[in-house]
Amino acid sequence: MEDFFQLLKKLSEARGPSGFEDEVREVVVKEMEPYVDEVVVDRWGNVIGVKKGATNYKALVAAHIDEIGLVVDHIDKEGFLRFRPIGGWNEVTLVGQRVWVKARDGWIRGVVGSLPPHVTPSGKEREAPEIKDLFIDVGASSREEVEKMGIAVGSVAVLDREVARLQNDLVTGKAFDDRAGVAVMLYALRLLKETPATVYAVATVQEEVSLRGAQIAAERVNPHYAIALDTTIAADVPGVSERQHVTKVGKGPAIKVLDGGRGGLFIAHPKLRSHIVKIAEEVGIPYQLEVLYGGTTDAMAIAFRREGIPSAVISLPSRYVHSPVEVISLKDAVNAARLLAAVLERTTPADIESFLDKKIK
Ligand code: CO
Ligand code: ZN
Repeated sequence: MEDFFQLLKKLSEARGPSGFEDEVREVVVKEMEPYVDEVVVDRWGNVIGVKKGATNYKALVAAHIDEIGLVVDHIDKEGFLRFRPIGGWNEVTLVGQRVWVKARDGWIRGVVGSLPPHVTPSGKEREAPEIKDLFIDVGASSREEVEKMGIAVGSVAVLDREVARLQNDLVTGKAFDDRAGVAVMLYALRLLKETPATVYAVATVQEEVSLRGAQIAAERVNPHYAIALDTTIAADVPGVSERQHVTKVGKGPAIKVLDGGRGGLFIAHPKLRSHIVKIAEEVGIPYQLEVLYGGTTDAMAIAFRREGIPSAVISLPSRYVHSPVEVISLKDAVNAARLLAAVLERTTPADIESFLDKKIK
């Protein structure tokens, strides 16, 4: 578990808001290279690792390397950066955070300031801030000074947060959505023995801004089946009824039945999903079934490309998703990697054919 923790720490602490994933991509390439036959970085920055299988069947695994971030849309005369969100933030979690701002020649530290209670207008103490009212303070005293640092409109920022261990096997940090999924994918490659299908392990970009990278990876690889790895909601905390927990941290990886919401539901390919459940039971890996209303994954973007790509999701229960203190269980994560490896090793050509077209006449 310690080796998984070290891998997760490296990935989580790397900075990579959607569209600007360079730093985390570098980590992924280095970690992936020893375990695959081929690595390609495509034109939008997806990392595609290929591990040859015994047949011409293709399996795609996807986990996204981007994280939610901020983009500067204005610099005040006094040198404060105003920003807009890249991806879905809960403003409350941003206030009081340290951030990294990507300047021309490197990253510069800043903080998201807030008004002290002493000067908060009375009656407004309990109001949640709006993102448009927040600002980043990098310590500059004028717009000119900020510009000289190489920060401009369009500069991006992410949370500054180190990974730390909690009690038992729980860990906390930023961007576990979806660096934990990426860690699971990379760890599964380490465990992986012979596979019937050739495995395309794809670290996707721009998931948080509408699942962009996965779309082109699916078109390019055109696999016979696909599995996305992502964190999912574990709302197993005070004030939330058990029905609304969705999943629980520490009870094993989740196998998704469906997710989505406003944009329509994603229903995991029923045969592929049942097949994953069967393998979890054969190998003896604890799992939870997941029905999530709100949010979706790369699988949504992969499933309905080309002639239709049977797609399913193995998810990692996570508390406080999209905050600086996301919490997952290392045991769940290692079990997710074991499950993924088992599925890739045990899915035979006959299994794959059973997911595909049936000729009736
Ligand atoms: Co997310
Ligand atoms: Zn995600």
